[in-house]
Amino acid sequence: MESGLEHASELVRKHDELSRLYLLVAVAKKEWEGTIDCVDDMLLLADPHGRIRRCNRVFREFTGKTYQEILGRPYEQTLREAGIDAELSCGRPVEQFHGKSGKWFVLRLYPFRKDPDQEVAGSIVAIHDTTEIKAVTGELEQKNERLSEALSEIRRTQSKLVQQEKMASIGQLAAGVAHEINNPIGFINSNLGTLGKYLSRLSEFLFEQTACIGAGAPAPAVDALRQKREQLKIDYILKDLDDLVRESLEGAERVRSIVADLKSFSRVDESDFKMADLNECLRSTINIVWNEIKYKATMKKEFGEIPRTRCNPQQMNQVFMNLLVNAAHAIENRGEITVRSWVEDGSIGVCVEDTGRGIPKENLERIFEPFFTTKEVGKGTGLGLSITYDIVKKHRGDISVRSEPGKGTSFTVRIPVVEEV
Ligand SMILES: Nc1ncnc2c1ncn2[C@@H]1O[C@H](COP(=O)(O)OP(=O)(O)OP(=O)(O)O)[C@@H](O)[C@H]1O
Ligand SMILES: [Mg+2]
Repeated sequence: MESGLEHASELVRKHDELSRLYLLVAVAKKEWEGTIDCVDDMLLLADPHGRIRRCNRVFREFTGKTYQEILGRPYEQTLREAGIDAELSCGRPVEQFHGKSGKWFVLRLYPFRKDPDQEVAGSIVAIHDTTEIKAVTGELEQKNERLSEALSEIRRTQSKLVQQEKMASIGQLAAGVAHEINNPIGFINSNLGTLGKYLSRLSEFLFEQTACIGAGAPAPAVDALRQKREQLKIDYILKDLDDLVRESLEGAERVRSIVADLKSFSRVDESDFKMADLNECLRSTINIVWNEIKYKATMKKEFGEIPRTRCNPQQMNQVFMNLLVNAAHAIENRGEITVRSWVEDGSIGVCVEDTGRGIPKENLERIFEPFFTTKEVGKGTGLGLSITYDIVKKHRGDISVRSEPGKGTSFTVRIPVVEEV
């Protein structure tokens, strides 16, 4: 009897214990369900056959189904019906665009183990909404692109400014030098002219005097005079003096024309568009860079008859100077530079050709980039051709290049002829 009672109270105790445990499990289950229902990502747990065992609120809302409708259904099919058709495998996230909602999702599959050391007992699918991140990333990428565009624009402007500054300094220097030389060369020129006239008068007088003396003087005195005249090489001097004065005049004339070239090259005050003769620009620029060229190359000028055109002559000088200096730099020992000009189909063509080292194929498309140079530090900034390109484009022209490594290079500039407005 007593043992019967004991048995009964044991049963009651176990029942209470089980009820308490059941309550604990129910609470734990609720807590977990509450927890995963708070997560913004869609989560589901599937059995080894891919049938859904649990899922969170967001997933249910996404599929538009109740828990009861979802439980036990294959997750792939459920996803497909909701508009997501993705083949998932562990460790490989899949990105999907969901047309119905216009959202982007990243889906991940994880193996599910009841215990870390147990076999895989199913899988967990997590679906993360990346629409916002993608939009922000896209925006950032666009901003980044705009920034790099702005950066290249800044670099282009900077390169232009550097080159303009360089040209302005050269121009100012040239103008200064021209101005300084102009004065002395002016009076040297005019003095030499006067000297020439004086000389011819002096020599005429000398002849007359000699004749006079010869007529009346005693023979020994005339003889001594003749000897002295021979000894001092007066006849030679008189003839040579003429040559000296003529050569000096020629020299002075050359200096005068160099000064004129310097002036027309610099044109500091005339940086606008105006009617100009590109052959004249070529001629004065060749004179200016002659020092760079003369030890490297012989120069062939094949200037054609070309009309005057409305252009910015100072900038065209800059174009020709860059091409000529590049040509001279490309020649290692001795070579040839040919400059041609012609008119064709309403455009003026100018070609600067050299027999230099040429440009390797891989560099050909980069040479017009600002700061692209193959020259050692200090020798080239890599701006010449980018500025040249800019100026030619500003004149609505174009520039092309042909090059054969080891043989030479030719740059051709074409500028449309613009009549006076
Ligand atoms: N005629 C040419 N022959 C061979 N290479 C050339 C020739 N012209 C240009 N290049 C190549 O193109 C590069 C860029 O030329 P660019 O005139 O822009 O710059 P740079 O001459 O190097 O420097 P700078 O700013 O002083 O002109 C040169 O460094 C050179 O490698
Ligand atoms: Mg250059």
